[in-house]
Amino acid sequence: MRAVTVSPDREDPLEVRELPEPEPGPGELLVQGLALGVCGTDREIISGGHGALPEGRDWLVLGHESLGRVRRAPEGSGFAEGDLAVGVVRRPDPVPCGACARGEFDMCRNGRYTERGIKAIDGFGAQAWTIEPEYAVKLDPGLERVGVLMEPTTVVAKAWEQIERVGGRSWFDPRRVLVTGAGPIGMLAALLGKQRGLDVHVLDRVTEGPKPPLVRDLGAEYHTEDIERVMSEVDPDIVIEATGAARLVFEAMAGTPAYGIVCLTGVSPAGRRITVDAGSLNRDIVLENDAVVGSVNANLRHYRQAADALAAADRAWLERIITRRVPIDRAQEAFTPQPDDIKAVLALDPSAE
Ligand code: BGC
Repeated sequence: MRAVTVSPDREDPLEVRELPEPEPGPGELLVQGLALGVCGTDREIISGGHGALPEGRDWLVLGHESLGRVRRAPEGSGFAEGDLAVGVVRRPDPVPCGACARGEFDMCRNGRYTERGIKAIDGFGAQAWTIEPEYAVKLDPGLERVGVLMEPTTVVAKAWEQIERVGGRSWFDPRRVLVTGAGPIGMLAALLGKQRGLDVHVLDRVTEGPKPPLVRDLGAEYHTEDIERVMSEVDPDIVIEATGAARLVFEAMAGTPAYGIVCLTGVSPAGRRITVDAGSLNRDIVLENDAVVGSVNANLRHYRQAADALAAADRAWLERIITRRVPIDRAQEAFTPQPDDIKAVLALDPSAE
């Protein structure tokens, strides 16, 4: 079988290799890889800026946004041959910390968690992979063309849950949400905002291509003006920041009304310096009871929430988020961003092209 591997120290880090078919361990599922979503984290891993290799190896099977079809399922696993399945990315740390011990590995306290395709364990960028059934999630069979959007949807399901929990500390009746960044995370955050009946606004730089009509067809408003202007025009109760761009992060924090919540989801590179009026920002956050919360990864509860959100969404709209499907032998292309990209997908099987 073929797999996309990364060796960050090599001159050409990305490679499609022939690997032996994996043998499922006791109780595990054998899954045929159908598709793999590509994201900024993958590009950071390729450039050596994020993640870790498995111990004693100089390569890793890349990929954490999975979609596959179960080929072999042990009795009692809850899965049957032919089921569509997605793999959970993170595994608890070995100690385990208090959060990991309670199934909240997305909130790991000691950082010793592992992540498939990211940190120390092989990912899902292979034509076959194995998985423990308790870390696999079954998808509605109708989601074959869009199920690869599950993992980023889990990330936004968690972000929304954080927002609702932070909001729940007092009376909370949000009306307007601003999402900054119309990439896959921004689009899916906007979708979950609409599903909550909110007035949704999305800010991005681009004025052409697939993003503006996608946002409008969701029933949300698309903005390209300066963030400061958009913040004062929209007056959002909630901001979901999905760019990691320093200026947007701070303008969002400064611009919310009283009891505003800013949820940060963008992983930005270190070393981006800007000048901020820290005094007035602090004053504003304190006097308005504002909250800023970071959110990463997702646990099994969020996978269930995401599966429900995708099942309830318009499939044709979801399909338009996937702007490119690239066959596995042209993997390099999938990992090279194109101007009109929202989500590029690697087809591990010809049926996913
Ligand atoms: C993934 C998360 C992961 C994070 C940090 C993101 O791209 O979606 O599952 O926890 O990267 O490695």
